[in-house]
Amino acid sequence: MTKKSTNTVWHSATVTRQRREALNNHKSVILWFTGLSGSGKSTLAHAVEEQLYQKGCRTYVLDGDNVRHGLCGDLGFSDQDRKENIRRIGELAKLMLEAGVITLTAFISPFASERRLARKLVPHGEFIEIYCSSSIDVCESRDVKGLYKKARDGVIKDFTGISSPYEEPKNPELIVNTGSDDIHDCVKQVIELLENRGLIASLS
Ligand code: ADX
Repeated sequence: MTKKSTNTVWHSATVTRQRREALNNHKSVILWFTGLSGSGKSTLAHAVEEQLYQKGCRTYVLDGDNVRHGLCGDLGFSDQDRKENIRRIGELAKLMLEAGVITLTAFISPFASERRLARKLVPHGEFIEIYCSSSIDVCESRDVKGLYKKARDGVIKDFTGISSPYEEPKNPELIVNTGSDDIHDCVKQVIELLENRGLIASLS
């Protein structure tokens, strides 16, 4: 990004992140779900959010398809546009972290370098990468949106896993087998991770 904003001065809030967290009674954190289209990122993120909501946590899901209707509506699926997409989401998630919210992002985010940049925007331990692992065969057989067929037919170009790369996370905080495991098991794994890290109070 070429920075064009000049003569701007950062304004500090009196209502700080720490005060918001104290009010919320939980830490804010970014849960970064990554995986192929159809791997179950959004489904899992929303199911985790439901659990957290029921525990009284402040949450928000940033979802690839939704965000591309507005904030990132000007971006397509070239490598460059995907990088800009993830850059914007990383910055947005950082603001939401300051707002005291548990932010769940569900983007393919195919490039390790951009995931690393998003991670580096926030303090250590506040970016939790969750790899929604599902083979391309499973994603393609689900083909919920009919996009894999279109990609195979050449109607959609640069489709992740078919004509555009997906770089598997090497050291994510968590790998969930969304291709094979029951959604309830996957949710449980994420919630337990948050509890074990002291980010939310234990359910029991
Ligand atoms: S990312 O690569 O930039 O992270 P993002 O998560 O925002 O992608 O958007 C992915 C969603 O856009 C997919 O779930 C799918 O519904 C839709 N989509 C449309 N075209 C493509 C494409 N060429 N590759 C992948 N997803 C696509």
